[in-house]
Amino acid sequence: MKILITGYKGMLGSDLVETLKNENQHELILTDVEELDITKLDQVKKILNEENPEVIINVAAYTDVDGCETNRDLAYNINSIGPKNLAVVADEINAKLLHISTDYVFDGNNSKPYIEGDKTNPKSYYGETKLQAELFIKNEMKNYFIVRTAWLYGFNGKNFVKTMLELSKNNDKITVVNDQHGSPTFTKDLAIAICELIKTDKYGTYHVTNNDNCTWYEFASKIFELANIKINIIPVTTSEYPTPAQRPKYSVLSNEKWKNAGFNSLRHYEDALKSYMEIELENN
Ligand SMILES: NC(=O)c1ccc[n+]([C@@H]2O[C@H](COP(=O)([O-])OP(=O)(O)OC[C@H]3O[C@@H](n4cnc5c(N)ncnc54)[C@H](OP(=O)(O)O)[C@@H]3O)[C@@H](O)[C@H]2O)c1
Repeated sequence: MKILITGYKGMLGSDLVETLKNENQHELILTDVEELDITKLDQVKKILNEENPEVIINVAAYTDVDGCETNRDLAYNINSIGPKNLAVVADEINAKLLHISTDYVFDGNNSKPYIEGDKTNPKSYYGETKLQAELFIKNEMKNYFIVRTAWLYGFNGKNFVKTMLELSKNNDKITVVNDQHGSPTFTKDLAIAICELIKTDKYGTYHVTNNDNCTWYEFASKIFELANIKINIIPVTTSEYPTPAQRPKYSVLSNEKWKNAGFNSLRHYEDALKSYMEIELENN
């Protein structure tokens, strides 16, 4: 297939490119903001019409959740208008669009995993802009896949695992929030799922994460256990660790729809973390 990727230099983008390349059966058009700024409709029109891909995968985004609270115009342009531009032109050239969304579209008041049709109610501006993108895409076209995922970590760029390992070098104790629940997800595993999905015409919205869930504190504990680092981890509440953006207390996503559609479940988050850390620790 001829596949155009936006934001390919990012954390998910780089694993996606590697996974697609390994399949050895696609023509890939790799773009990041230098080649294709998704906020500019004229550029989107020009490049998509020139390239005429069968599939567009949008992994471009403004992902600094706290930064989105203050840089609102930038956040709205990249996270809402960008996907809208892609949807408008994808529909014109009859391409499929796969867009990545987030668990932060939910408010976190649930006590059981969120399903795709559950009521959205973002607590942060980041979540609002990502939800607006979903609405634009649904309004502009039919052949879309929206994949909501959560708590990503991967080799390229900053992530929670790297932050914990880095902090442990200069501290003998660290505090970690213990009242936000989610599903840490390895970008490599998500990339494989995306590659499965784009080959189908099972359009719609899916929740795709590694299996099971934990709090950030539990996740940090597992990271240090796997790295064999002895450190005093102190669990704290969100109110003891205030951030500019509010985050949901519970944003676990049910993957039942994904499984029922016949796709492979992603492995347990602890197994994924172990695979990631084996490579990460070997390289550092
Ligand atoms: N990270 C998470 O925990 C998480 C959780 C749930 C969902 N998601 C979603 O997953 C997707 C991938 O996230 P990620 O963490 O891989 O993101 P990322 O590492 O921040 O990568 C995003 C990429 O998009 C590029 N970009 C920014 N503005 C652009 C523009 N106007 N046009 C084209 N490209 C642009 C960025 O370039 P610069 O670096 O130069 O700005 C970067 O290369 C996003 O949709 C995100 O919302 C992420």
